[in-house]
Amino acid sequence: MSLTVAIDGPAAAGKGTVARAVAAHFGFAHLDTGLLYRAVGRRALDHMEPVEAAASLRPSDFSDIEALRAPEVSQAASRVAAMPEVRAALVDFQRAFARRQGGAVLDGRDIGTVICPEAEVKLFVTASDEVRANRRYRELAGTGHEVTLAGVAADLAERDRRDAARATAPLTAAKDAVLIDTSRMSIETAVQTAIDAVAAVHNARTRG
Ligand code: CDP
Repeated sequence: MSLTVAIDGPAAAGKGTVARAVAAHFGFAHLDTGLLYRAVGRRALDHMEPVEAAASLRPSDFSDIEALRAPEVSQAASRVAAMPEVRAALVDFQRAFARRQGGAVLDGRDIGTVICPEAEVKLFVTASDEVRANRRYRELAGTGHEVTLAGVAADLAERDRRDAARATAPLTAAKDAVLIDTSRMSIETAVQTAIDAVAAVHNARTRG
């Protein structure tokens, strides 16, 4: 059985938490596609040409995930993500992952719209600017990054603006996505809402 769950949304909306929980619940594999762009952004900061960086990602580029979460890498990721050739270099890997046997959850910005428009379940996870900034500030401060709330809010606003305005694969909800606004929802409720949406499709397929 292959079943693809596409989870998109703006920065720090809770996509990663929802994606990991859905994958664990159903025993699906999970790909955080933001890490691909973060790894390319990291290599670009190290003066590698971004398209070449995207075409030659290696496991060692992901050896320090925490470093990839640093705000300067977030900004670099969003800059390289606006380059069509960078996005094109990452498409095949993401599509192959999405179609693997046993089910897959991918989270990002363009999964339901460009990478997997045929995904069986599409979720768009969002939250207010204030809630997202507070959550990301707590995450980063809690893992030892030197950040301020104002700095984090500015980073999210700038990335959202760039991610939504770019010509190739802009951040937008697929027409058939289920919208989950987590502004006034506990993470448990957000996860349960996502699991219920996946279960409806999954149960029908495993039964039939
Ligand atoms: O965790 P957060 O939501 O802050 O960001 P992320 O998902 O790790 O993505 C980092 C950056 O990569 C985003 O700001 C986007 O510019 C880019 N990205 C993208 O363009 N397409 C994706 N499918 C995933 C990430």
